[in-house]
Amino acid sequence: MKICCIGAGYVGGPTMAMIAHKCDDIDVHVVDINSDRIAAWNSGTLPVYEPGLQEIVEANRDRNLFFSTEVDAHIRDADIIFISVNTPTKQYGVGKGKAADLKFIELCARRIAEVAVGHKIIVEKSTLPVRTAETVKRILANTPHGATFDVLSNPEFLAEGTAMTDLEAPDRVLIGGESAAAIETLVSVYARWVARERILTTNLWSSELSKLAANAFLAQRISSINAISALCEATQADVDEVAHAIGKDSRIGPKFLKASVGFGGSCFQKDILNLVYLCEHYGLTEVAEYWNQVVKMNDYQKARFARNMVKTLFNTVSGKRIAMLGYAFKKDTNDTRESAAIYVCRDLLTEQANVAIYDPKVTPAQIKADLKTVFTNGNGELAARDRKLIEENVIFCSSAQEAAKDAHGVAVMTEWDEFKTLDPAELYGLVYKPAFLFDGRNILDHNAYLQAGFEVYAIGKGLLDGE
Ligand code: NAD
Ligand code: UDX
Repeated sequence: MKICCIGAGYVGGPTMAMIAHKCDDIDVHVVDINSDRIAAWNSGTLPVYEPGLQEIVEANRDRNLFFSTEVDAHIRDADIIFISVNTPTKQYGVGKGKAADLKFIELCARRIAEVAVGHKIIVEKSTLPVRTAETVKRILANTPHGATFDVLSNPEFLAEGTAMTDLEAPDRVLIGGESAAAIETLVSVYARWVARERILTTNLWSSELSKLAANAFLAQRISSINAISALCEATQADVDEVAHAIGKDSRIGPKFLKASVGFGGSCFQKDILNLVYLCEHYGLTEVAEYWNQVVKMNDYQKARFARNMVKTLFNTVSGKRIAMLGYAFKKDTNDTRESAAIYVCRDLLTEQANVAIYDPKVTPAQIKADLKTVFTNGNGELAARDRKLIEENVIFCSSAQEAAKDAHGVAVMTEWDEFKTLDPAELYGLVYKPAFLFDGRNILDHNAYLQAGFEVYAIGKGLLDGE
């Protein structure tokens, strides 16, 4: 059997590496139009950082796992074609800022229709609006070489930072489709390492919608606990204690109740906005408003964190150095898409702070690119004033200590494990006094920082007084 996966990104790369790893007899070809990305997959420095990924890629690459830009050739050869391209929020035209931009999906479908021969199983791996398979099928119906197709939906549930363990032992694999034979072919691939009872099969539309619904429910939990965190700060309740207490209810459960500076990542916001757009499209205004509130609450949480910092630092951060520990949207990834750090950094730069950033995996080039994007207005213009802020007020550091040196405030933005072992006394010695710590992830030992002399602001706990 031959598999082709179009899109060598955070999903295509790790997912196909796992299939190749578990299925010796299947040739897996991951193709992409981005030649730099393919070159990186074929090099010692992979374009995606995920614990355990490098080992699996190196063990299988050029054996039964291949990365190339030869899209047409591998479409032609494959029995199963996964489409794993990006489906970002549309930035233009109708649905701007909400709908999923499906142009990359359509391009793939058209390419497949153009070059395919024989029978192919087309698998939607990307996250898509419900009923996209209908469009894909219509495009595939116009094929010059008499090829035939079955279209399946097989959304991916991996989370970044734990992608390899999620792929190795998924809670479930979901496959939606119309042809029992095509479904069984794909089931037989996953069944090499996933127990059959964890492989769920549904109709196409349930599968497409389940992915959007799962992300909406997960993000909703975070917005719910973050909403409670604001009330905790007003009432001296402690959000970690509240999360623990409610999570003990087996109907609620303990996971995904960690209050934070706000959720980030390429999926949650994009997929909820997509859901909101779909609801509006079907005239379900109240349903759309309900889900939109999850995103609004997240925006509020990010803005609230930055506002609290400014307020605590005597209502001005102009000319003050702020150490930002972490920039990725969560630990164990180099991905910064929609990271809360981007928005907090923007708000601090707007207040003319100097922001000294340290992240163990994110490059300065990525940080600059993100900040340029976030400051760019709707007409695609970056004001000279904002460009200057990015060039002059952002400092890239290679350790937490370097970032903290002469800082007026230290903010934890990402929950990297290495921040938990920082020495509070050492940091206290480096920063300006009074010393302020803002823990946007509630991962540090707040008592230890209080004892070292810091004043500590923690999400859902407020400004702690050390008693
Ligand atoms: P990504 O941007 O990292 O990768 C997508 C790749 O597709 C890019 O390398 C791009 O060059 C390539 N591509 C685009 N159009 C192409 C074309 N016509 N031909 C060949 N290659 C093309 O995106 P990602 O994070 O891997 O996400 C892919 C999809 O999976 C999205 O729909 C996303 O919502 C979904 N998803 C992502 C995650 C995640 O954690 N990142 C998890 C589950 C689902
Ligand atoms: C998410 C879904 O979890 C995954 O199933 C889907 O396939 C893709 O989208 P991902 O965005 O990679 O995965 O990471 P996730 O662990 O869900 O974290 C998303 C964001 O929420 C991060 O910024 C994280 O820090 C934040 N988060 C998560 C919290 O703030 N609190 C929590 O309790 C959990």
